[in-house]
Amino acid sequence: MQRSPSLILGARGWGMGARLSTPRFSTLPNLCVFVDSPLLWSNTGMLKLLLAGLGVRGRHWAQVILREPRCQLAAFVDPDPSALLRAKADFGHRPTFPSLNDALRALDDIDALVLANPPIGREAIVRAAVARGLPMLIEKPLALSLPEALRLVRIAEAGGVALMVGLNFRYLPVTFAIKKLLADGTVGAAEFARFTYERWRDGKRPDLNKYPLSMDQPMLWEQSIHHFDLMRHVYEREPLHVLCQTWNPGWSMYADDSNVSALFEFAGGLRVNYHGTWQGNWAVPGFEWRTDCSLGIITQREQFGALGYARRDDSALTPVPLPPHERWISETRALLDAFVGHVLDSEPFECSGRDHLVSLAMLVACIRSSQTGAAVAIADVLPTE
Ligand SMILES: NC(=O)c1ccc[n+]([C@@H]2O[C@H](COP(=O)([O-])OP(=O)(O)OC[C@H]3O[C@@H](n4cnc5c(N)ncnc54)[C@H](O)[C@@H]3O)[C@@H](O)[C@H]2O)c1
Repeated sequence: MQRSPSLILGARGWGMGARLSTPRFSTLPNLCVFVDSPLLWSNTGMLKLLLAGLGVRGRHWAQVILREPRCQLAAFVDPDPSALLRAKADFGHRPTFPSLNDALRALDDIDALVLANPPIGREAIVRAAVARGLPMLIEKPLALSLPEALRLVRIAEAGGVALMVGLNFRYLPVTFAIKKLLADGTVGAAEFARFTYERWRDGKRPDLNKYPLSMDQPMLWEQSIHHFDLMRHVYEREPLHVLCQTWNPGWSMYADDSNVSALFEFAGGLRVNYHGTWQGNWAVPGFEWRTDCSLGIITQREQFGALGYARRDDSALTPVPLPPHERWISETRALLDAFVGHVLDSEPFECSGRDHLVSLAMLVACIRSSQTGAAVAIADVLPTE
């Protein structure tokens, strides 16, 4: 079906009345103005998705999209022919393309993009998707610099399309459960916390991506970004400043720092002491996120679960039951549900690119603090509009 360029007012989503708004409405997907943009929306209640980037994470995404009843996995994009062949072999025959532009030239009925390429050089992809009015779900970190991330957010906002970031850890059952314990005041209000993530990450393992081996600050950009985002999400407070050191242990296989030690202060005086490493020298991972509250503690002792709480004089933790969870899949399904719900049903816009800028600013503040030896205010690194 060839669609003609047109002026379209509103009419995003199915069954939505046309309304007029400014382009800066990314929380309201059914309100927009497109000039010379093809009509893009399915009337079927289904989203036809392009999946771009078929490495480790893209393959999670393929599994998740195939299980989502309201999504159709329309085509694969990856410049690496072997990644395309493997995707077709594992997830079924689909049209394949070496670039997003090639895919968009060939297919005129795509509704949205899931992007799981490395966070390098995404601007051309985002521009092409926005030109076609495609909402995007893009893997974290959005970009490897704040100015670049801001540029991507602005491009999406100016085009009136949603840009959601793949912050799947927000959708873990354990994350929902911690938020509920805090909201219910089970052990009172949070005052300080220790977040410890210790992992021997063998970056040469065939089933792991390779670019972190040579990038700057791999721990911060690739891993700690999830942890920083979780802190903001769970405590529902914004960070004020940080004192941080990053370094690389002598045995590290990473070219740049794989250790991060940071003390954050959040609004209201909440302090979080963070220690993260990808080169902890025991292959058995260590994880604990303990929050000390006015009446006791909440502690998560495993990356995907093991949640408990205790009041000050309790002799043991009270475990919090959690639903079964399939690692990397269940929580990614919930993230995709949020994206689909936003695009098709105008449900709230979660994990927005603009919100992500604050978590990226925490990361940049860590780097600056480590370089200067001084505490850094998050506001001082957040780009001004
Ligand atoms: N949220 C999570 O839990 C999670 C887990 C792992 C990775 N990630 C993120 O996913 C992204 C990809 O990581 P990965 O581990 O899959 O990396 P990877 O190196 O395993 O795979 C990246 C794939 O993208 C392809 N690619 C490169 N340029 C492309 C382009 N312009 N268009 C389309 N495809 C392109 C590569 O050929 C490769 O197949 C990163 O942003 C990473 O941080 C997120």
